[in-house]
Amino acid sequence: MEKLKQLLLKYNRQGPRYTSYPPANFFHEKFTNSDLISHLATSNSNGSENISIYIHIPFCSQRCHFCGCNTTLFENNDVIDRYINCVIKEIQNYSKHLDIKNRKVTQVHWGGGTPNSISRKFITKVMNEIHKTFIIGENAEIAIECNPAYLDKEEIVFLRESGFNRISVGIQDFNTKVLDTVNRLHSKLPHKELIELIREAGFTGVNYDFIYGLPYQTVESFNETIKQAIELSPDRLVTFSYAHVPWFMGAQKILEDAGLPSPDKKLSMFLSSMDLLVKSGYEQIGLDHYAKPSDDLAKALKEKILHRNFQGYCTKETTGQVYGFGCSSITQLWDAFSQNEKNLHKYIKRIEADGFAVERGYALSFNERVCKEVINETMCNGIVDFEQIGSQFAISATEVKSIVGYKDENLKEFIDDNLLVINNNRLEISKEGMMIVRNIAMAFDPQLNTEGDKYSKTI
Ligand SMILES: C[S@@+](CC[C@H](N)C(=O)[O-])C[C@H]1O[C@@H](n2cnc3c(N)ncnc32)[C@H](O)[C@@H]1O
Ligand code: SF4
Repeated sequence: MEKLKQLLLKYNRQGPRYTSYPPANFFHEKFTNSDLISHLATSNSNGSENISIYIHIPFCSQRCHFCGCNTTLFENNDVIDRYINCVIKEIQNYSKHLDIKNRKVTQVHWGGGTPNSISRKFITKVMNEIHKTFIIGENAEIAIECNPAYLDKEEIVFLRESGFNRISVGIQDFNTKVLDTVNRLHSKLPHKELIELIREAGFTGVNYDFIYGLPYQTVESFNETIKQAIELSPDRLVTFSYAHVPWFMGAQKILEDAGLPSPDKKLSMFLSSMDLLVKSGYEQIGLDHYAKPSDDLAKALKEKILHRNFQGYCTKETTGQVYGFGCSSITQLWDAFSQNEKNLHKYIKRIEADGFAVERGYALSFNERVCKEVINETMCNGIVDFEQIGSQFAISATEVKSIVGYKDENLKEFIDDNLLVINNNRLEISKEGMMIVRNIAMAFDPQLNTEGDKYSKTI
């Protein structure tokens, strides 16, 4: 464990999270509504045939000091009503440009903010619109991020009856002192009762989110939290490293006064929780995601068909091009990204006036699509077969390597540390290597600039 810790400390450098390639800080304002519309049209014939939908609900009744998400403190129901009407209008406008007769929806994800904090009538309205507009695939994954502060039996049954089959519960920590310090509401129900109700209601997947690196967390206290989670036995679990970016999220400064754990302590929390989870039978996915061996994500990792988008890991079956609705949401197409206005009121005004609300975006060149594929395979499956990726783009392995700026010397450090092996045109990352996979991915990013761009640390 000590050896692994030293290794992780060595590679704890600033770098992109690669939830997209190029990373979101490359998006620019020259990309406008009309660019989005032309890319929507081409998305019908390029890339995956599936449709994934993301719905952003930015509202929260109370703001957690650590939060790095795009949220807004509760607005009155009139504003929420206008917002929901805008989301519906946006869905209708997108659908005019999409082949909705031949393309099925395989994934719907509601994120936020706190999607389960708004009135049920709003959730029903948007769900009805999705069902009215699109053909939903038989095994579609329909997920919602929930804060347990608003979950009771009635709400859980309502969500299930609305069509959700996966639920992601933001636990963060079971320790109440930690929750109080970060200004987070407590769960409405005891967690054992909550997960039993979720299972009884017929949800096929339960995910728990945790964060390590918050004030008052210690290795021992976080271990207790993880042990409790193992007993409750969610299908998937994530331990997020607390991303401290106070230059971007001013409220996070409050946590500095309460005292943040040192990077060394933070790393021990990560390693210790990983040890507990792996020993209890969870499969590790990427750095900080875990799934039961029977879960689709664990199976996809074994078969090397794991994917990833802004909403997290997914399987090839459920992955589609993502059409994002609501403020700040990101539409993730085969050859472009388009992000909506982040500000709620600007978003509403622009949708009401123009029907679309693009704030910024990015159209990928051919070379960038190649890099995106290499980085995706690195981050998700830990295997990069340059020959095979070349064949997808009708180019040679040598050309792929040249496009991503492949240099033996950039990988030497990883090879020396036994983190990866290279055989001809195939690179395989070891289990330890997957823990610093962001660093390895950086070696295939010809546009990387860690000097000018401010990124969080890789661990
Ligand atoms: C939109 S929130 C989840 C939904 C719901 N609002 C909640 O808090 O339960 C998505 C997840 O992002 C994670 N998160 C938020 N801010 C973070 C930060 N600064 N660093 C790391 N993870 C963060 C939390 O674990 C959270 O559950
Ligand atoms: S963590 Fe969740 S509940 Fe807390 S402010 Fe962020 S989005 Fe809202």
